[in-house]
This record gives sequence, C-alpha cells and structure tokens, in this order.
Amino acid sequence: NQRITLNFLRQKHLAGDPITMVTAYDYPSAVQVDTVGIDICLVGDSDVMVVHGYDTTLPITLDEMLRHYRAVARGATRSLLIGDLPFGQAVDMAVRVLKEGNMDSIKLKGAAPSRISAATAIVEAGITVIGYVRLKPQAISVLRWFRPQGKTINNAVKVVEMALSLQKVGCFSVVLECVPAPVAADATAALQIPTIGIGAGPYCSGQVSSSFHLVTPKFCKQYGHEGEAINKPLSEYKQEVQDKVFPSVSHMPYKYYR
Ligand code: KIV
Ligand code: NA
Repeated sequence: NQRITLNFLRQKHLAGDPITMVTAYDYPSAVQVDTVGIDICLVGDSDVMVVHGYDTTLPITLDEMLRHYRAVARGATRSLLIGDLPFGQAVDMAVRVLKEGNMDSIKLKGAAPSRISAATAIVEAGITVIGYVRLKPQAISVLRWFRPQGKTINNAVKVVEMALSLQKVGCFSVVLECVPAPVAADATAALQIPTIGIGAGPYCSGQVSSSFHLVTPKFCKQYGHEGEAINKPLSEYKQEVQDKVFPSVSHMPYKYYR
C-alpha cells in the first residue's frame, strides 16, 4: 500500500492519463477516496463552507484545519495528501501542515503577487506546493464565451500568466478553478506541469471535485450508509475522469458551494 508520489503523477501526466483529485474533510470520506484509488486527496478549505457552514473560506485557523488534516491522513493511506494552507500563507504554517497535519504537500490560495512570494519561500523551504488560479464566478459571467471581448482576453492572459508564474517558482501542479474551458486549455498547453481543473472544462491534465459535492446530502434522516452512498459515485467519477468522459464543456458551473 505505497503512497502516490509526485514522480508517479509526473509519469501519468507524461502518458496523458488524467490525474484524479478529490477533496475530503474527515476520516470516512478520506477512506472512501483512498479505497477507490483517487490519486490525490485534498484537505480543502472548502470545509469551512461545506462542513462548518460559513459563506466564505476566510474564517478558519490553522489549528482548526489541523484536526481535518490529521483525520484525513488517518483515513487515506495511499492517495497523495495535500493540505490547503489557510490565510497567512507563511512558511512556518506550511511546515506545521506537514509536520503536525501529516500532509505530503500544501496547496496555495491564489496567485496574487503576495502569494507568489509565499510560494517561493515555501518551495525554498523544501515543501512541495500545488498552485491555485481561480476566476471569480462574477468574472465568469461577464465573459462572453468564444466571443472574445477586452475583458475576456485580459482575464485569459492573466490566468495563463499566473499559472506560468506558479510553475516558475516551483509548484508541481496548478489547480484551475472556474476558468473558461478554452482558457484552461491554453494554460494547460503553456505549462509543463499538470493542470487540475474544477469547473474549468475538459482540457486540463486532471480534475478535482469535492467528495461532498458528489453526494451532497440535503437532509439528515439516514436511509443508507455513507460508505455505500459515496463509493459508487466516487468510483464513477474516477472512471469518467480517467476515460475523459467528464467533464464536457457543458459542465461549467457558475457557482460551486451553494
Ligand atoms: O477547498 C477545496 O475543495 C478546493 C478545491 C475546490 C480545489 O480548493
Ligand atoms: Na480550497
């Protein structure tokens, strides 16, 4: 039961095989993600919204996240473990995510200049980092698909530039969230490292989804076991990503969390 390595992901990418990544928040979801053979298990700060019920991902501390990292690390023994770095993004925080949270790598929150310098420092500290570029849903709604306008072009150029700068400082991959499919395709073509998309169309090197959003329960009354409820959708998700069936260009949500 050997853990997935960055080298394994690199080989997959070179072979053109999509990389699969799923967000888990707790021990049971991590067990399922691991059991179906998802490559990367992300402890995402989307837990602030999905599990803790806040409207943004801002109000969470590293100490709170540490409990999630550890629970997930107990559940997933094979998937590569990535911990979302909460706001602050300092090297000492990243060290704690690995040392106390038992994660293998960290994920950054964005690609603004301050984040780029944080990434540089964290990579220089010997920590492996996955970058993150996101267009806000509002930005997406002003984009005119396949009908380039000034704003579209600027945003597209910005996405590719930010992804390139994350690659340049040493990130091993970049997550693209809420990015128009053609832009994500451009970024994927421009980068040597793999792109992992969510709401970014079918042309990324891999896909990420929240385990929660594969089985979002609306009510508390229990009619089945969580393990069974999530295993089938997870397996299907993994298979469809690997077979390049999901996502198609029609899978482009404006909003994820609500
Ligand atoms: O927190 C999360 O689940 C994420 C994914 C959307 C990539 O960051
Ligand atoms: Na996140």
